[in-house]
Amino acid sequence: MVSTQSIGTPMGNRSPNQQLLPLTAKINSRDRLEIGGCEVTALVEQFGSPLYILDEETLQTTCGQYRDAFKRYYAGESQVLYASKAWSCLAVCAIAAQEGLGIDVVSAGELLTAQLAGVNPDKIYFHGNNKSCEELQGAVEVGCITVADNWRDLETLAKLAASETPARVMVRFTPGIECHTHDYIKTGQLDSKFGFDPNELDEVFTFIRQQTTLSCIGIHAHIGSQIFELQPHYDLADVIVKAFAKATHYGLAPTEINIGGGLGIRYTEADDPPSIEAWASTACTAVAAACKKHKLPLPKLLCEPGRSLVGTACVTAYTVGSQKVIPGVRTYLAVDGGMSDNPRPITYQSVYRVLAAGKMSAPLTETVTIAGKHCESGDVLIKDATLPKCETGDILAVPATGAYNYSMASNYNRVPKPAAVLVRNGEANIIIQRETDQDLLRHDRLPERLRTQE
Ligand SMILES: Cc1ncc(COP(=O)(O)O)c(C=O)c1O
Repeated sequence: MVSTQSIGTPMGNRSPNQQLLPLTAKINSRDRLEIGGCEVTALVEQFGSPLYILDEETLQTTCGQYRDAFKRYYAGESQVLYASKAWSCLAVCAIAAQEGLGIDVVSAGELLTAQLAGVNPDKIYFHGNNKSCEELQGAVEVGCITVADNWRDLETLAKLAASETPARVMVRFTPGIECHTHDYIKTGQLDSKFGFDPNELDEVFTFIRQQTTLSCIGIHAHIGSQIFELQPHYDLADVIVKAFAKATHYGLAPTEINIGGGLGIRYTEADDPPSIEAWASTACTAVAAACKKHKLPLPKLLCEPGRSLVGTACVTAYTVGSQKVIPGVRTYLAVDGGMSDNPRPITYQSVYRVLAAGKMSAPLTETVTIAGKHCESGDVLIKDATLPKCETGDILAVPATGAYNYSMASNYNRVPKPAAVLVRNGEANIIIQRETDQDLLRHDRLPERLRTQE
């Protein structure tokens, strides 16, 4: 028997980060893939291709699961932040904020997006290993919290802020915890560009204590991304709580601990990440145990996931264009996007699944490689995908493309960035317009002497 495409069965209490497709995914009576009550093929007809399709219900669910699990498993105060680097745009930030989340930003652009999405500055945390003076000034003016990553952050903020309203800072350090993920997305090991070295903390706390313009409100560490193990996060709690205790010994009065993000998601059936609930319960239990050990009252506990909040909520639709058959070697199916809308395969060798959205029960008879349209041999979205027979014009859907896809998108080869639609109950709203040729040329200028004379 030849098998057909599966969208996976709804898996009881499993959280969205453990599933391939958004929660609302189904195959309708026309044998088409539906997300949020909208047919993927019809969305492409209406809004064009490629298209990011974001399922509101899935995003709301992940936000709610994190928020409620922290309330349930932690006896102290808690606050979940959305790491907006995963996908910074007004609609995603607004949904996260409506669900009670704060926002972690890493640039003036992400800060502006969070502000315009209506996020309260008390719930905005400004990260980054090389914030400019203008960005730090912006953080002071907005009144958000700055995560001090290095001496330059501290020294600049100490000069910019006023004693009457000291700048609120969290101190980020590298906890020295290794986790099994891609080298580029590990951040917690000692050899990392992010955060203070743990050996510097005595000096850091002494410095802050001497500044009337700085107020140390907490300690931060983040160990990496797309992590499937719970132990590193358990171990992290003790290391952070120790640093927190050290700050109090220097006469500072921190009240918050931020354990970062990092929970992985399912990109293919081979991925089996823990649930949001299991991650939250591990983190909360570990922090409470570490506080007990160090005889500290429970601080406010923050975390800042990105990928596991928004990753599974989005599917990218592409249209099949050309095909190249190399007998006995490989068949390439080329689509109208690629590394410019999803740079993860070429950057991290990330693996994805693909579905033929318009013929969901057609038999899976082909093994093909889905190539992008860019002038790089490495611009391959999926190697050796199993699909039904596809023709030019067929619509393919790549799941789990909500995190670090749009936010890392580029205009390589002067390809305009796709549109994004938010779907819910059969309604689709544009949340990001498709770029036009004019958008691509908006910043080009041609000096007079280069203009051709007729
Ligand atoms: C400081 C910090 N916080 C949070 C995150 C979000 O991580 P993830 O998307 O894996 O949850 C990142 C991403 O690497 C990060 O660098």
